[in-house]
Parts: sequence; structure tokens; C-alpha cells
Amino acid sequence: MTATSSTSVKTQVGIVGGGPSGLMLAQLLHLQGIETILIERQSRDYVLSRIRAGVLEHGFAGLMREARCGERMDKEGEIHHGFFISDQGMTKRRVDLHKYSDGNSVVVYGQTELTRDLYEARDKLGGTLIHNVEDVKLHDLKGASFLTYRKGDDVHRIDCDFIIGADGFHGVSRKSIPKEVLREYEKIYPFGWLGILSRTKPVSPELIYARHDRGFALCSMRSQVLSRYYIQVPLTDTEECWSDEAFWEEIKRRIPAEDAARMETGPSIEKSIAPLRSFVAEPMRYGNLFLAGDAAHIVPPTGARGLNSAASDIFYLYHALIEHYKKGSRKGLDNYSARALARVWKAQRFSWWMTMLLHTFPDMPGYDRRLQDIEMDYLFSSEAAMRSLAENYAGLPF
Ligand code: FAD
Ligand code: DHB
Repeated sequence: MTATSSTSVKTQVGIVGGGPSGLMLAQLLHLQGIETILIERQSRDYVLSRIRAGVLEHGFAGLMREARCGERMDKEGEIHHGFFISDQGMTKRRVDLHKYSDGNSVVVYGQTELTRDLYEARDKLGGTLIHNVEDVKLHDLKGASFLTYRKGDDVHRIDCDFIIGADGFHGVSRKSIPKEVLREYEKIYPFGWLGILSRTKPVSPELIYARHDRGFALCSMRSQVLSRYYIQVPLTDTEECWSDEAFWEEIKRRIPAEDAARMETGPSIEKSIAPLRSFVAEPMRYGNLFLAGDAAHIVPPTGARGLNSAASDIFYLYHALIEHYKKGSRKGLDNYSARALARVWKAQRFSWWMTMLLHTFPDMPGYDRRLQDIEMDYLFSSEAAMRSLAENYAGLPF
């Protein structure tokens, strides 16, 4: 396709990716009078149709309030002070987050709703947000940096002081860092999660994480009339392999009988499979480019850490950019990668630990199975172990 015209604009911070990370940073900076332009590859409807995170740690909820976007979350989100872990459908024991994480809690509020709130806030402030961009390219990251993108037949250029790569795992930002600079660490798990959303009453007032020989299951929710359920499935399965009936039958086998008996079932309104992966890219900065969120790191969803890890990146970047623009100090920017990675790796460790504790691995040696049993025993018999789980799940300090 040949380009017919081109435009050029200037901004302070160019943000690639209109998911929660990019939107949150744009909103926080805008409130501080720092100019941003945000570009997103998809349409707004598409971004809002993705069903992802459901559990927000208290630090993320705090950032939403700081961004003046917390009103609906505070009204409609549910505060959870604990969750359950069931084992083989035989035991169901509660993790008391409040007691073991010094009074902390998590907020159950869907990523879709949170993203909608951030879009509305951006609209209200009149911030620039350009959807459906194609061929995004990052240029001269160590000099006078700029972004280019195509929209329809037209090519556009944005000159910026800094570029934020908040474009998720498949985005272009991380790939713009030279191969000889970037180190990537990855662990692929041999299974995925099949998730469904249904207009049914959640089976339990608090989430149930279920370990079972048939595979892991999770009972979650979005509200008192909207449930979110997941089951562990082999990587070879597709959504088409699972009718709604087969899904309900299988999840009931993996949770305690009394929960299965009262589980409300109904047609799925969304059904998707997410493969499980751990991934970290280092460093998270190259010249004027700063990576944030899933663009730099991915966790398996078991510990509900993904979006929450993005939140700490945004917190550090936001403060570093304010320090730069308001106090003329580059210290925060220079320390960003090391500071962000220190917390990112802790979330990686916790997510890996919860995944290893609760999933059934193909061809799992008997020795490893016994270790899983003992880990579970230890967890519910040691206050120190329980505290470790609770403080990580509720969120380590930024
Ligand atoms: P994304 O949400 O991936 O946003 C990136 C955006 O960039 C996208 O909108 C994309 O379209 C856009 N983009 C990509 N390429 C380009 C380009 N070239 N140009 C412009 N734009 C581009 N986390 C939790 O904390 N708690 C949970 O309970 C939880 N549950 C989860 C359950 C599931 C099933 C899954 C899949 C994830 C879950 N997560 C959870 C993880 C969480 O959803 C992610 O960590 C979060 O979406 C990361 O936000 P982000 O903005 O960094 O990236
Ligand atoms: C949800 C997802 C998770 O990964 C998790 O650990 C808890 C809840 C959810 O989508 O509701």
C-alpha cells in the first residue's frame, strides 16, 4: 500500500499500547500536566472485549484512586479478605489474607471495567488516544527519539522525549531493543487454562483455587451475577473441544462435592484458552525507551500477579518522569529498570510457586507429587508459610 500523506507532531511522552499499563500511565501523567500521546493497535471495542484479570492487589487499587479513576471500582468492586484452597476435592481450607498480611485485602474488579474507566477518564480530560494504528516503528532510541505509525494510507510521526513500551507481550517495543542488549528468560508450562464467563451466581463468596489429580480449577467472579471459572487443559486442546456441558461437568469433578452440588451453570458468554508462561526481559530500559507491564514480563495467572506487576512498573515510571520534569533529576529514570525488575522477579517467584503447588504436570514423578502434598501440608501448618503466601498474594510494597 502506498502512503498518501504524512503528519508530524511533538509530545513529551509517547506511549505505545492502550491496555491498562499505557492508559494508567497516560492518566497519571496528564493529571500532572505532562503531555502524552497514546497509540493502540486495536479498536476500543476489541480491547474491551478481552476478558483477563479479575483480582487487583491493594497497591493497584490505590493507583486507580490516585489516577482519579477509582470511583466505580470502589462502588462496584468487591473487597476480599481471603480465598480458599481445595485439595483433591477432599479439603477446602481458607487463606486469611487480612490476618496474615497485616490487614490487607484484594479487590475483585474486572480488567475490562478498569480499562473502561481509564478510557472514560482519558476522554474526559481530552487526552490524545489513537486507535487502529498499524506498522508502529520506534526510531533513534538513543538520540532524538520518535515513533511512526500508519493509519489507513497515511503515515504519521510523533517526536517524543521518552517512549513507553506498554504494548503487551506481542508488541513491537521490546523487539526494538537490539538483540545483543536484551536478555530474555522464559519458562513454558505444558498446559493452559480454559476460562469461561457466565451469567450465573458465583459458587462461593470467595475464590476457590482447586488442586486435583484431574487438573487445576479456579472459581472466580466478576460480580454477584457474573462468574468466571477456569480449568487446566492440555496445550493441544482448543475451545472447540469443550462444549459448555463438558466444561461444567469437568469443573464439578475438581472441586469439593458440596460446592459442585450448588454450582449454578448456564451458557458461556466468553470462552478462551490462555497458555501458561513465565517470561522476563532485561533490561527494561534502552536509551529513551522504557518497557512496562506485559511488554517486559509475563507470569502464569495462578497468583493473579500479571496486572499487579504492571502496576508497580507504572508507579516507578510515573514517579521517575515527575522527578525528571519537575525537579530536573534523571535518577529515577536511571534506576527504573533495576528497581522495577527487583519487584518483577518476586512476582515471578510467587507465580511459579503457586503454579507448581496447584497444577498436575504430565508424567509427574511420584517424588514431585509427594513434595506437592508436603508443600500443601506445610502451608496449612505453619504461620510463617501462610504469611508468605498472604503477603505475596495481597501484594508486596512498591
Ligand atoms: P496488555 O493488556 O496486553 O495491553 C497491551 C496493549 O498494547 C494491547 O491493547 C495491544 O492491543 C496493544 N498493542 C500491541 N502491539 C501494539 C503495537 N504495535 N502498537 C500499538 N499498540 C499495540 N493479572 C492480574 O494481576 N490478576 C489476575 O487476576 C489476572 N488474571 C488473568 C487471567 C487471564 C486468563 C489472563 C490471560 C491474564 C490475567 N492477568 C491477571 C494478567 C493481566 O491481564 C495482564 O498482565 C495485563 O493485561 C497487562 O496489561 P498491559 O497493559 O501491560 O498489557
Ligand atoms: C482470576 C484470574 C486469576 O488468574 C486469578 O489468579 C484469580 C482470578 C479471574 O480472572 O477472575
